[in-house]
Amino acid sequence: MSSSAAGISQTLKNLQAAFEGESNAAARYTAFAKKAEDEGYSRVSVLFRATARAEQIHAAHHAKVITKLGATPEAKISEPVIGTTAENLAVAKNGEEYERDVMYPEFIREAEASGEASAVRTFRMASAAEAVHADLYGAALANLEAQRMAAIFYVCPLCGEVTDDDTMKTCPICNVPFEKFEVFRWIPSCQLNR
Ligand SMILES: [Fe+2]
Ligand SMILES: [Fe+2]
Repeated sequence: MSSSAAGISQTLKNLQAAFEGESNAAARYTAFAKKAEDEGYSRVSVLFRATARAEQIHAAHHAKVITKLGATPEAKISEPVIGTTAENLAVAKNGEEYERDVMYPEFIREAEASGEASAVRTFRMASAAEAVHADLYGAALANLEAQRMAAIFYVCPLCGEVTDDDTMKTCPICNVPFEKFEVFRWIPSCQLNR
């Protein structure tokens, strides 16, 4: 047997931490989307909604692996701290960079050591998507006044890749055909669920 009980229990802890992190990121981005809409940054609003969906996808994958290991997914959802859209983009970018550079690499190493392949897979896929999210937030923040426009973003239903490139044929992270991507477009604020 390649995996130790201690390793599995640490992997399980990491899966729960990642599940909680992704669930909170989804809640935070949904709140940030409403703020962006209020401030007239329609494109950022769509980006936050699309990325919130991506984090839900990550959370659902982590939850599946947690269940497979015999535990129940548990997340404490905190009330999001909402700043200006510029501040929210910076917070979001930092969070994604932390997950990409620190949290997921550590969780992947640990899951590899404990031999839990499905945990390695869900962590790897999430980490690759977080890198894309960080870049999108950085680009929006660097050019904030250009974000007051309608926009469409697409979300890969398997890995949570987010893109506004509609010439894409397949997901660069997981190869899902582009026509399967979920579509998020700007909608007037009166239609947002407040
Ligand atoms: Fe993300
Ligand atoms: Fe994908």
